[in-house]
Amino acid sequence: MTPESNSPSVPTPLVSASRPDERAAAADRSRAYPFRFPRDPRHLGGKFSVAENARRLTRFFYLERRLMQALGAWTLSIPEFEVKLETGRHIFYHADAARFIRERLHEQELRLADIDAHRDAEIDVLIEEILHASNAAELLVGIHQVAGRALETAYRHHIDDTDPVTDTPTVRLFKRILTDYEPMLEWANRAIDAYIQGGVDEASLTGWRWHLQRLLTHIGGVTGSDPRGEAPKPLRSAGHEFKRGTIPLRDNRFDTFKNTGDYDTADGQARFEKDSYENIRLRFLRTQRDEVDAIEAFGTFIWDIRFKDFQSEYDLARITWDEARHTEIGHRALQAAGYDPFELRNRLTGSTCRGPMDPAFAMAEINLFGEVGVLKTINGLIQTAAEKEDALMLHIADYIRADERTHVRKGTKILKCMTSLSAQDLELRTRQLFTECLVSLGAIKSDMDVFTVSREDIEHLVGE
Ligand SMILES: [Fe+2]
Ligand SMILES: [Fe+2]
Repeated sequence: MTPESNSPSVPTPLVSASRPDERAAAADRSRAYPFRFPRDPRHLGGKFSVAENARRLTRFFYLERRLMQALGAWTLSIPEFEVKLETGRHIFYHADAARFIRERLHEQELRLADIDAHRDAEIDVLIEEILHASNAAELLVGIHQVAGRALETAYRHHIDDTDPVTDTPTVRLFKRILTDYEPMLEWANRAIDAYIQGGVDEASLTGWRWHLQRLLTHIGGVTGSDPRGEAPKPLRSAGHEFKRGTIPLRDNRFDTFKNTGDYDTADGQARFEKDSYENIRLRFLRTQRDEVDAIEAFGTFIWDIRFKDFQSEYDLARITWDEARHTEIGHRALQAAGYDPFELRNRLTGSTCRGPMDPAFAMAEINLFGEVGVLKTINGLIQTAAEKEDALMLHIADYIRADERTHVRKGTKILKCMTSLSAQDLELRTRQLFTECLVSLGAIKSDMDVFTVSREDIEHLVGE
């Protein structure tokens, strides 16, 4: 062996070859430069190599993606209106955080296909346990107070620990994610407090939080780098695979119906003359409020197609948020029109049929029939609203039209990743399944042996 290969190499000190005359000239030029711009206080240096940065970001990406999916899985099963609405929003916050991190990972030279194919069995155990919440309050504890809070802390630490000069894009992306996290976690704390004030047992929530925190510690925290502890025993999820709910739940302020898609029939008596502007207007406002069922539909699809295609999951998450907004718009517009929104019965027809259904047919119904159906009539509605100088209707329908057009456009790609059926076969099978469901709900009577509702019937009877 040569002496060089036998001993650890001693780094050669780096030598500067600065020349005195050039240096003095540079100093002279600097003195003559008149502008004193703000000094950038950042210093070079941080804790992570590109590889370690990417390892942490991959874990964060996976956690964000799984939190989006987990919230989606619960959308049908959350009864409380306010919580279902916020969850629609939070699904998108997690989806958008995942997207930001995914793009940064791609810049750190990971292939998108590899990022999307990443799985982590330990994180899956944590998410599976969070999904085994026994009610919505426990779900919020797991998602926000355990996982969300740990991620928020980790993002702050990452901002402080990474190199602020070489890794500025990561610093910026976490700052942007935190602008969603702060109000989200603040809301969750207040919501859990509201559950406790309203009678949910605080001790059982505290026990559940402690249990999940120990499980998170067991996997090394969200970074995977924290000291590990013993796993709590027993796990609720041990031997019990989580199955999402199939029945749309509502809180006790709602009076619901599912025996028809038509509000006048459900009410027993029409409030306004059929086909009058007042009738169509009220139907539109109620339909928007009742799009609480669209939060359930699109949220559930994220769960049902999980890991098939990140872009489709992301698009579904964005649509879920949009539908949460449509629900809010409907609720507020009903108030602006002089109603207590809870005095108007809530339609559960569509969500009841879609709940247990294969996502391709449920998606075909809500997207190809429901959203396309809205676009067929909304232009006429906007026109009439303008003639009648109905500023409220004009304002909200204008925004909703833009959203629904966007949903129809995105829907084409999402459907492709749900099914390989031709458009014709997909439509026919969807109509058959909805005929069966509507007959079982009593919304239509099946007189003939062979009978399938038309797409127009579905537009009318399910009514999105
Ligand atoms: Fe909508
Ligand atoms: Fe929509």
